[in-house]
Amino acid sequence: MRLLVTGGAGYVGGVVARRLREAGHETVVLDDLSTGHRAAAAPAEVVVGDCGDRALLADLIDRRRIEGVIHLAASCLVGESVQDPARYYRNNLERSLALLDTVRAHGVAHLVLSSTAAVYGEPVEIPMQEEHPTRPTNPYGETKLALEKALHWYHAAHGLGFVALRYFNAAGAARDGSIGEAHRPETHLVPNVLRAALDGDPVPIFGTDYATPDGTAVRDYVHVEDLAEAHVLALERLQARGGGWTFNLGNGAGFSVRQVIEAARRVTGRPIPTRAAARRPGDPESLVASSERARRELGWSPRFPALESILESAWSFLRSHPGGYAA
Ligand code: UFG
Repeated sequence: MRLLVTGGAGYVGGVVARRLREAGHETVVLDDLSTGHRAAAAPAEVVVGDCGDRALLADLIDRRRIEGVIHLAASCLVGESVQDPARYYRNNLERSLALLDTVRAHGVAHLVLSSTAAVYGEPVEIPMQEEHPTRPTNPYGETKLALEKALHWYHAAHGLGFVALRYFNAAGAARDGSIGEAHRPETHLVPNVLRAALDGDPVPIFGTDYATPDGTAVRDYVHVEDLAEAHVLALERLQARGGGWTFNLGNGAGFSVRQVIEAARRVTGRPIPTRAAARRPGDPESLVASSERARRELGWSPRFPALESILESAWSFLRSHPGGYAA
């Protein structure tokens, strides 16, 4: 299929676009490079622009005869979304609605949305199935949920086929070590813990008073390569049957912040100093997926479910890119 990948120069987007090409698709990346890197998209063609620019989108879709859109471009930091909700409503909702309108008006049949476990909010039941109540605790989750709902109604009204993939915590690096997390500033746990292993500066533990076994927040870490594979399967599903689908993507195993740090000590062989810090606003206590629906309906089966293998690949990326992509 001829695909437009928005956010394809980002961490997850870069790995997704690469996997799609390996599976035989053609990709054009649209990215404003506000947080992405050309190196993460290489060797795909990168069109630098705004994913909500209707004229640009219309031109790209028509001239490249785009058949499917993989929409990853977004602001995606929980803490930042609490501080600056307007950015999230603008970037994740307003721009995405412009994209949906253009996709629909220009006859694109399929859309895969990068969504998130942040749509759920505080857990009522663990592991979380797709039917778990959705009561986001931050604007990031709120805007992604609103976009999922918009897709549902665009599908009902116009037949746009879609799959919304609710990623739990993406981590790890591309198998060949070429793409990994390199945000500035970096806020995510795995790269921060590994950075602490490298530099020796203490990593903050945001919240030590959660109602979890060791008091720190629990997440379901999923390898970015396994996330990428789900996009290939989602497109196959859409091509075969169309429809509108939502799938969780996680390993079904929750690890606390302290457990991640312990595992990183084993993987790196380094001490990793820590410091207790206040909870980060907007962070739920625990997010763990049931991905039974993705396994059943997509045939998705994570190849790298072990936390150690996720950490090993992220560690190897960090050591080969200690200063980010420019190094
Ligand atoms: N954390 C720390 N210290 C750090 C960084 C993070 O203690 O230096 C904690 C956070 O407070 C949180 C946990 O580690 O409890 C995981 O934090 P991340 O920032 O790595 O990830 P989030 O869970 O906040 O968010 C990520 C993605 C979101 C997605 C969410 C789904 O960034 O896009 O996972 O679970 F919505």
